[in-house]
Amino acid sequence: MKVKNICCIGAGYVGGPTMAIIAQKSPEITVTVVDINEKRIAAWNDPDVEQIPIYEPGLSEVVAEARGRNLFFSTDVDAAIDAADMIFISVNTPTKTYGMGKGMAADLKYIELCARQIARVAKNDKIIVEKSTLPVRTAEALKRILDNTGNGVNFQILSNPEFLAEGTAVTDLHKPDRVLIGGDLDSEKGREAIQALVDVYAHWVTPDNILTTNVWSSELSKLTANAFLAQRVSSINAMSELCEVTEADVQEVAKAIGMDSRIGPKFLKASVGFGGSCFQKDILNLVYIAKSFGLNEVADYWEQVILMNDHQKRRFAAKIVKTLFNTVSGKKIALLGWAFKKDTNDTRESAAIYVADYLLNEQAEIVVYDPKVTQEQILADLDYLGTRSEEENRKLITVVNTAEAACAEAHAVAVMTEWDEFKTLDWEAIYTHMLKPAFLFDGRRLLDKEALTDLGFEFYAIGS
Ligand code: UDX
Ligand code: UDX
Ligand code: ADP
Repeated sequence: MKVKNICCIGAGYVGGPTMAIIAQKSPEITVTVVDINEKRIAAWNDPDVEQIPIYEPGLSEVVAEARGRNLFFSTDVDAAIDAADMIFISVNTPTKTYGMGKGMAADLKYIELCARQIARVAKNDKIIVEKSTLPVRTAEALKRILDNTGNGVNFQILSNPEFLAEGTAVTDLHKPDRVLIGGDLDSEKGREAIQALVDVYAHWVTPDNILTTNVWSSELSKLTANAFLAQRVSSINAMSELCEVTEADVQEVAKAIGMDSRIGPKFLKASVGFGGSCFQKDILNLVYIAKSFGLNEVADYWEQVILMNDHQKRRFAAKIVKTLFNTVSGKKIALLGWAFKKDTNDTRESAAIYVADYLLNEQAEIVVYDPKVTQEQILADLDYLGTRSEEENRKLITVVNTAEAACAEAHAVAVMTEWDEFKTLDWEAIYTHMLKPAFLFDGRRLLDKEALTDLGFEFYAIGS
C-alpha cells in the first residue's frame, strides 16, 4: 500500500517540524497538520513565514517550500482524519497533575480523546502512528479503544518515536541517526503497515538507518534513549560539584573520559541542569512503570537522575546567594537566557525557571533577557509554579530586550542558556555598568574565565 494522504493530530514541537519535513521530501503525499488550538494553527498559516509558532533554525524555509503545495495546517480535525490513510498522533502527554500517578505517570487523556475521535470519524482502514512519547503498552490501549468504538474498519497501530532535539530539529529530521518503527511483525496487515511507513521515510533516509521492531521495543526504546541521555548529564553534573571542591576541572575531565570510545565525547557538558519537555517527564514515567511492576530497585536507580538534576539547579541558585554575602534581598540579578537550551523558544522545564523561583523566594529582583522567549511566556512559567501570586511575580520580574539592559546596575549576572550571542557581548561595557563587586555566574561554561576575570569580574563557572 502506498500512503497518499497523511494527517497529523497535534501541531506542536514534534508534529509541526516532523510533518514539514515529510511534506518537503514527499511531494506526492498530502500532509495535513491539525490542532484544536486555533491560535497555533493561525500562526502556522501566517503569510509571514517567520511568524510560525515554533522557532527552529531552517524550519521557516521548509514550511515556505511545502506549505500550500502539499502541506496544510487546519483546525478541522474530523475532515483531516476522514481523508487520511495514515494518522500520526503528536499530542502532548504531560506528567499527570492529579489523581493516581500524580507527578509521575504520563497523562494520556489527550491521546485517548484522539483515539475516540478517530474511531468515530474513520470510515475506511487506517494506519495509526504513535509519534508522542508514550508509556510502554499504550498501543494496546489505543487498539482497544479503536476496535471497540469504531465503525468496524481495520486499524493498524505503529510506534514511531521521534528522536529530534529542539534547536536542531531540521538537521535531525533530515539526517536522523535512525528511524525506529514498531509494529505487529507477526501479521500480514501489520507488516504491510510497517512497510507503508518505511516507504514514507525512504524518500530521504537510507534503508540501513530504518529499524523495525515490535511495538513494545519501540515504545520502550524511546524512554530508554531519553533516560540514558539525561543520565549522562546528571553524571557529569555530579562530577561538576566534586570538581568544584577539588582542583579538578569538569571540562578537562569530560574531555579525558570522552576520548574513551566506549564512553564517547557527546552529551558531557556540565550545566545548571537539563530541561526540556522530555527528559524529566520520560524518566518519571519510566520510574512509574517500573514501580507499577514492583521493580523498586530499577525505579530508584533512574529516579536518582532527576534528584541529581534538581540538586544541580538548587545548588546553582544557592551559590549565587552565598556568594552575594548570603543575601540577595532587594538586589538586582540579571538572568541571561530563559529557554531550556539555545536555538529554541521552548522553555518547558528550563533550569532558569527554578533558579529564578529560588532567587525570588530570597526576595531578589530578577531581570531577564532571552533572544527568543517572550515576556508573556516567562511570566506564565513562573505563575505555573504557583509559588507566589501573579501580582508578586509581575512586581519582582522585569523582562528586557537586550543583554546590556538586563545587566545594567545589576549586582550579579547569571548565564542560564548557552546562546551564542552571549559569547560576543561587550563584557567590558557590561562590567562598567554593573554594581561592584561585579559577580558573573556561568551556568553553561560558555564564557572565557581568564578574559572576564581580567576585566574585573568575580567569575564562577559550574565545575571549576
Ligand atoms: C575496566 C575498564 O574497562 C578499564 O578501562 C580499566 O582500566 C579497568 O577496569 P576490566 O575490569 O578489565 O577493565 O574489564 P571490562 O571490559 O571493563 O569489564 C568489566 C566488567 O563489566 C566485566 O565483568 C564485564 O563482563 C562487565 N561488562 C562490560 C558488562 O557486563 N557489560 C558490558 O557491556 C561491558
Ligand atoms: C531530547 C533528546 O535529545 C531527543 O532525542 C528527544 O527526542 C527529546 O529530548 P531536547 O530535550 O530537545 O531533546 O534537547 P537536548 O539537546 O537533548 O537537551 C536537553 C537538556 O539537556 C537541555 O536543557 C540541555 O541544555 C541539557 N544538556 C544537554 C546539558 O546540560 N548537557 C549536555 O551535554 C547536553
Ligand atoms: P510536543 O512537544 O509533544 O509536540 P506540544 O504541546 O508542543 O507537544 O504540542 C501538542 C499539540 O497537540 C498542542 O498544540 C495541542 O493543542 C494539540 N492537541 C492536544 N490534544 C488534541 C486533540 N484532541 N486534537 C487536536 N490537537 C490536540
